[in-house]
Amino acid sequence: MAQRISLTQYLVEQQREHGHIPGQLRLLIEVVARACKRIAISVNKGALGEVLGSAGSENVQGEVQKKLDIIANEVLVEANEWGGHLAAMASEEMDSIHVVPNRYPQGEYLLLFDPLDGSSNIDVNVSIGTIFSVLRKVDNHPGVSEQDFLQPGRRQAAAGYCVYGPQTTLVLTVGRGVAMFTLDREQGSWVLTAENVTIPEDTKEFAINMSNMRHWDAPVKRYIDECLAGKEGVRGKDFNMRWVASMVADVHRILTRGGIFMYPWDKREPDKPGKLRLMYEANPMSFLVEQAGGMSTNARERIMDIQPAKLHERVSVVLGSKNEVQRVTDYHLEADNTQR
Ligand code: AHG
Ligand code: MN
Ligand code: MN
Repeated sequence: MAQRISLTQYLVEQQREHGHIPGQLRLLIEVVARACKRIAISVNKGALGEVLGSAGSENVQGEVQKKLDIIANEVLVEANEWGGHLAAMASEEMDSIHVVPNRYPQGEYLLLFDPLDGSSNIDVNVSIGTIFSVLRKVDNHPGVSEQDFLQPGRRQAAAGYCVYGPQTTLVLTVGRGVAMFTLDREQGSWVLTAENVTIPEDTKEFAINMSNMRHWDAPVKRYIDECLAGKEGVRGKDFNMRWVASMVADVHRILTRGGIFMYPWDKREPDKPGKLRLMYEANPMSFLVEQAGGMSTNARERIMDIQPAKLHERVSVVLGSKNEVQRVTDYHLEADNTQR
């Protein structure tokens, strides 16, 4: 049998060979991975663990919270509080940042997460996940505030997600490519199952919620119309469509076999730049996608160059196979230029 490399071994080797994973960051990643194992156990119990259904509350974005949204958030907060690797955390499910209580030592990292992504899929037993992003507190001033979090995505020290699907898989980047680890349930350990993941530059598969078509902007409509026209249209090839409605699962497919994922701005809520959240959904996924040779924009500019103005900021997302993302981005820029 081929030699099995555990997450710990992978991180130690990265630290030794490249010297770019400081001890605190290694601990942070291991703690997040351990928390994901605990979340996976709750997810797998389903109705038997009484974890399905709504919690009867709303988060800061006005979305109804599911029981698992809250459970996953608590698991991540508890796991990360005491290790001394963090200064503070931020989450989709918490209105404001959670500073590490002063009974514990404070570290230099900031952790952001979407504890449970794809909430609409929990009760129907379809893949869901956890997304996380790691920043460093750059200023040496005492204390920590929301301002410390407001850094562009290109400053991320690490990012990843865990997908709770037919397999539980942790996907990670520390800025040197993308690695995947599959959870071995019997051993309780993460085993390296893919390294140097690459997204093909071209694809014949797109992911978008088609039910929003009538609300889209013209360039999005143009791109999808051309895909739908298939062999007979300007693209000269047939396209396939997939939409899981869990960003983790859609991005996981793209990292595995290519494709383009879009959640663009649309006319339903014209004042919001998009549905997905910049700091704990779009940025970490963009980091992974770029590290795998793909591209990620808000339909006009690189997502990781956006300077966030607030923690729960939303953004339009176009990511995946480079040539398709470039095409969608070009369509938007062309339309902007002709409107001028
Ligand atoms: P969350 O469950 O964390 O709120 O995120 C759900 C997001 C994302 O995972 C997915 O791509 C998208 O919402 C699905 O939206 P629609 O239901 O509008 O298709
Ligand atoms: Mn989400
Ligand atoms: Mn969520």
